[in-house]
Amino acid sequence: MIDRITELQAEGEAAIAAATATPALEEARIAYLGRKAELPNLLRGVAQLPPEERGAVGRAANEARKALEAAIEARQSQLASSELEAKLVEDAVDVTLPGSPAWPVGRLHVITAMRREIEDIFLGLGFRVAEGPEIETVYYNFDALNHSPQHPSRLKSDTFYTTEGAVLRTHTSPMQIRAMRAGPPPVYMASAGRCYRRDTPDATHTAMFTQIEGLAVDRGLSLAHLKGTLLGFAREVFGSDREVRLRPHFFPFTEPSVEVDVSCFNCARDGSPCRVCRAEGWVEILGAGMVDPNLFDHVEGYDKEELTGYAWGMGVERIAAARHAVPDIRMLWENDLRFMEQFG
Ligand code: DAH
Repeated sequence: MIDRITELQAEGEAAIAAATATPALEEARIAYLGRKAELPNLLRGVAQLPPEERGAVGRAANEARKALEAAIEARQSQLASSELEAKLVEDAVDVTLPGSPAWPVGRLHVITAMRREIEDIFLGLGFRVAEGPEIETVYYNFDALNHSPQHPSRLKSDTFYTTEGAVLRTHTSPMQIRAMRAGPPPVYMASAGRCYRRDTPDATHTAMFTQIEGLAVDRGLSLAHLKGTLLGFAREVFGSDREVRLRPHFFPFTEPSVEVDVSCFNCARDGSPCRVCRAEGWVEILGAGMVDPNLFDHVEGYDKEELTGYAWGMGVERIAAARHAVPDIRMLWENDLRFMEQFG
């Protein structure tokens, strides 16, 4: 009987050592120490043995049971730690791998970014930023800006009328009158926003576009102040070695009026035929001038004998197109991501 016990212990130890996973170890436990297993049965039967055998068999069987229990416990903790390790390896997340971009990060539209950049430049030059309505009265859009009743831009073929006496503003210049009416002089104001014209879209026109208006009204302002302001602006946007040039022009609400060109930043860099300025060397960026004194008649408390002012209106799309050498401003509103993602 003692031999059988020794044999059972050896078999059990071998089975325990051979178990490579927790379920296999549990099977070995049931096979050698379970309720129906041979060794526990043997232990239960010790009392029926002849007295002279009882002591030796009982001791041997008990020791075998303890040995097997200890072997199971040791194997259990070995398996637990190797299983944990395997699980950790399997579940490991390599935090250095790039994530999967399920939600692409957005960015500002190139026109929004350009608009904010220009606003920041004028804030830095001491202008405050104002916002105006896109639906404007005929009075603010044309009359108060010195447009004669026959002015062609009033035609329904040129301008979107919403209701009688109201238009989708054709420029941001109405903000000149609104800014002056908002408070006493001096005024240093910049205002950006959308404008609308019944233009047939082409490479340089869209029916909706963005302008930034500027107005300065104070004592003693001259064309030199206008030029200095716009030169400062041009150098911020297009590079510190830019020059500006003023060409005579006509606008109903400025006298004198000018168009302003900035020296081309693109062909200044390389001598090849330039697609930004079309080999002109200059890029037209805005209209400007000295505020026509007639405008002050529309604003209480603004004395045209005392005050002078300068103003400008610039097209944000044209400035962005020049800066990024975009050949056709319609591309800025097509919202083809392959194109838009190049900016910002
Ligand atoms: N409003 C003009 C346009 O849309 C641009 C302009 C010209 C604005 C001269 C001005 C200015 O403030 O002084 O064509």
